[in-house]
Amino acid sequence: MTRGHFVVLEGGDASGKSTQARRLAWRLEAAGRTVVETFEPGATETGRHIRALLLEGPERIQPIVEALLLAADRAQQVAEVVRPALDRGDDVVSDRYVPSSLAYQGVGRGLGVDVVEQINQVATGGLDPDVVVVLDVTDAVATERHVGPPDRLERAGADFHATVRRAYRDLAAERGWTLVAGIGPEDEVHELVWKAVAGRLDLEA
Ligand code: TYD
Repeated sequence: MTRGHFVVLEGGDASGKSTQARRLAWRLEAAGRTVVETFEPGATETGRHIRALLLEGPERIQPIVEALLLAADRAQQVAEVVRPALDRGDDVVSDRYVPSSLAYQGVGRGLGVDVVEQINQVATGGLDPDVVVVLDVTDAVATERHVGPPDRLERAGADFHATVRRAYRDLAAERGWTLVAGIGPEDEVHELVWKAVAGRLDLEA
């Protein structure tokens, strides 16, 4: 059986990636694929505890502890969700994966991309996505879109989030991730995401 495709949607807070991940999954299904949708952090039972600690826990979690907790969540979800799905031949669409940790913890928290990559290499057993799409929005658009009380990471501040968005752009250029402008109408952004993914996976666009 051929292994499924592993597609990751990425972007800073309020980039619209959760909506786009869902639409991408539907589109892949419409193209005849079987799709498992997942997200980070918190898609497994273990992960839900880790997510609560990360987003509602103490403000003073050390950056390296934050990175390790995220990697632990990821290890659990790779083992429980992602690998079994890919092995069955299903496609997986994940709302966030290792690139989030490189941008938020590696650059945003200042841990360094290399060390965060090493931790994640262990956590994932080296499982790399087939395609990474990064939704890019301006700082102004992200601020404007924000609703509701901020969680622990959202409270990290505007400078932190601007740094993360910049990190995504730099890392995308270095690593061959596809950068898509996330500022247009939802349908247009979806078409751009679909084109990027279909092109990479050799599906009919
Ligand atoms: P979530 O409520 O899932 O929001 P979003 O829609 O932005 O994904 O919150 C996840 C938060 O965790 C978000 O602020 C990004 C952060 N995060 C990291 O800092 N590093 C990571 O590796 C991951 C997966 C998420």
